Amino acid sequence: GKKITIAIDGHSSTGKSTVAKRLAKELGYIYVDTGAMYRAVTLYMMRKMFVSENNFNEEAILRHLPFVDLEFKLNETTGNADMYMETENVEEEIRYMEVSKHVSRVSAIPDVRRKLVEQQQEMGKEKGVVMDGRDIGTVVFPDAELKIFMTASTEKRAQRRYEELKARGEDVEYEEVEKNVKERDYMDSTRKDSPLVRAEDAIEFDNSEMDLEEQFEKILKIAKDKI
Ligand code: C5P
Repeated sequence: GKKITIAIDGHSSTGKSTVAKRLAKELGYIYVDTGAMYRAVTLYMMRKMFVSENNFNEEAILRHLPFVDLEFKLNETTGNADMYMETENVEEEIRYMEVSKHVSRVSAIPDVRRKLVEQQQEMGKEKGVVMDGRDIGTVVFPDAELKIFMTASTEKRAQRRYEELKARGEDVEYEEVEKNVKERDYMDSTRKDSPLVRAEDAIEFDNSEMDLEEQFEKILKIAKDKI
């Protein structure tokens, strides 16, 4: 059959990446986690001290942006693509709570978005790609053949993210995670440049009460019908 582009958007911790990753494996498609790219840029700027609890130096961020060198490389052990900054594997570090706290502010900067969107369009230009994020169906690939918009209640999402962080050994409080999920929802949905909105032609999936397995099966069926 033909290769298509699958865009999966939605709020934080809706299980987008879990579904997207499985879908890509099942279809033999490339999976691109665009959140990882925004997280890596944020980490880079945090290390330079341009972004911290009490500092946000947009001018310095813009000046250093051209030097941020990102790449996905296949991890032979897990079979997944890991995020690399130059030669360093930052896959784990970009998921830290500290990065989550600053990422929405960094990703609201239009020049940051322009740079990453360009790379994303390049990665998906041959189709046969499953990409997840916030603006894939609206901005990166408005012509994607299949667009999914995933939602779930704030409590369910915060609970999932909390369990994920705990499982990875991070020392976090549930309240802190819930607050971060809400803040990112708000910032991502209200920013001027490519805010998180459901594309008109996206199919919405609420998984508050549905398990991801069931959801994956449904999405896979829809995808196969289009291929
Ligand atoms: O998907 P994930 O939760 O890892 O994304 C982290 C953050 O990166 C989001 O909260 C959002 O601020 C930003 N992001 C974005 N556009 C995308 C993907 C992620 O602005 N396409």
